[in-house]
Amino acid sequence: MLQRLSKVIRRPMFWHGTHHHDSNDATKRLFDTVSSTVKGIQQINYVVEHDPKLTAEEKSKMKQFLIYRYDPADENDFPKYVSYYVDLKKIPPMYLDALLYIKDNYDSSLSLRRSCREGICGSCSMNCNGLHKLACIHAIDTDLTQPAYITPLGHMFVVKDLVVDMTNFYTQYKTIDPYLKRKTPKEGNKEYIQSVDDRKLLDGLYECVLCACCSTSCPSYWWHPDRYLGPAVLMQAYRWIVDSRDEYTDERLEKLAEDVKVEDCQNIGMCSFTCPKGLDPQKSMNHLMKLIEEYKERKIASATL
Ligand code: SF4
Ligand code: SF4
Ligand code: FES
Repeated sequence: MLQRLSKVIRRPMFWHGTHHHDSNDATKRLFDTVSSTVKGIQQINYVVEHDPKLTAEEKSKMKQFLIYRYDPADENDFPKYVSYYVDLKKIPPMYLDALLYIKDNYDSSLSLRRSCREGICGSCSMNCNGLHKLACIHAIDTDLTQPAYITPLGHMFVVKDLVVDMTNFYTQYKTIDPYLKRKTPKEGNKEYIQSVDDRKLLDGLYECVLCACCSTSCPSYWWHPDRYLGPAVLMQAYRWIVDSRDEYTDERLEKLAEDVKVEDCQNIGMCSFTCPKGLDPQKSMNHLMKLIEEYKERKIASATL
């Protein structure tokens, strides 16, 4: 019973729907999403053995990987776990190594994103045993008595298997103008100089690889991905606000003060807990909210003068 419960707790929440960008048929999309989500819930404990011929003794010497597989484009497919066994002595230690071994040796149709294999590109973000991580720098749990669950980032539209649709995330990122904005015309080819202390303010911010592990772990982002920008994007908004070279600070704060782009943060801290780069988006959010409050107070004070 306890083992079963721990499996349920470690299983992340999925959004099994497909995402039709080209279709204007909102009803059809809603129906597709609901029906595939229902299918997913019905099949939540469904496990397919990749190699049913393996004996119990062979299995006991290998690590079991339960990998989420689903192709929403195939109407006969349904969300499921496929069970693969891998000899950990044959592979390097990270989750991505196991996935690539499975793809190369067992089933080339397994879909996942990866590029750098160094924790730099941010593309291999996924849920490894209950935590959103970069699979290339997250070490496999070597306890052979327990399976390792690998699933897509939670609450995201699944494109196929471990690949999720990042469109909304990148669209939101674009709205914060993630680049240096200046009003003063540039003098020739001179660099924009920063003091050592000003440069230090960017530490812990510029290292973000936009993997979305934090935003997709954030309960507030799950409920309102349409209106709430989420910790990853807001930390980058903060990064440009505190950059001493940027000259659009008030305009940036004004834009963020509108609607509920920021206020949905409930300060729970899942974002910082999960960040595979060891960054602290929760702290940045707290600083950002303070800056927005100060900006609002300044605005009221100047209006009443
Ligand atoms: S803050 Fe961390 S978890 Fe969030 S996008 Fe950046 S690197 Fe990924
Ligand atoms: S601290 Fe804020 S942004 Fe981070 S997980 Fe909690 S609600 Fe989301
Ligand atoms: S493959 Fe680039 S961060 Fe993992």
